[in-house]
Amino acid sequence: MQFISPSPQVLKRIEWERVAIQKMNVQDLEEVVSLETSSSLTPWSKNMFVKEMQNHFSHCFVIKTGKPPHPSLIGFICFRNVTDESELLNICVHPQYRQLGIGKKLMEFYMELCSQKGIKTYYLEVNSSNGSAIHLYQCFSYQFFGMRKNFYQGKFDALLMMKKV
Ligand SMILES: CC(C)(COP(=O)(O)OP(=O)(O)OC[C@H]1O[C@@H](n2cnc3c(N)ncnc32)[C@H](O)[C@@H]1OP(=O)(O)O)[C@@H](O)C(=O)NCCC(=O)NCCS
Repeated sequence: MQFISPSPQVLKRIEWERVAIQKMNVQDLEEVVSLETSSSLTPWSKNMFVKEMQNHFSHCFVIKTGKPPHPSLIGFICFRNVTDESELLNICVHPQYRQLGIGKKLMEFYMELCSQKGIKTYYLEVNSSNGSAIHLYQCFSYQFFGMRKNFYQGKFDALLMMKKV
């Protein structure tokens, strides 16, 4: 996957005191799906998000900024926890809010929540061409442990990463 960083001119300023992470709900789905569709080569459909929100093992959260009652949705994270293992399923930040620390904020939230639940091992899968995501995961001490050749669209490799605490 090719990543185009937003030019500094379009980057929004973050007012951290107005940033909030909340459980994803059905009212968020229109914005979530639109963000997902514009950010992934293999985007999840609305139905996939709904299924994940209904899955007992899964957790989906959105991150919003701005003044209530109409804050803007600027990202989301979905993961699945089974016993003491967690798999990061999806994470995305709005293109105009990238490289401002929102991805790290979502990952910190994820790690904190999982640590409270006694998670010991974290897994994820990432497109080998997705440098920004790989960098983000390495910031959180994930390490490579495998590869699925030509996994995405029959041409991009999937890298398997894990972290043990
Ligand atoms: C991957 C993604 C979530 C990162 O979100 P983000 O808010 O831009 O990340 P942050 O601002 O918190 O940056 C985290 C680190 O990655 C680096 N980084 C992020 N994007 C980068 C880029 N395009 N080029 C270079 N470094 C980048 C940051 O500099 C920072 O590292 P540092 O602390 O060492 O300086 C975001 O790019 C995204 O939504 N991509 C599309 C969806 C996607 O690919 N999801 C992952 C699926 S596996």
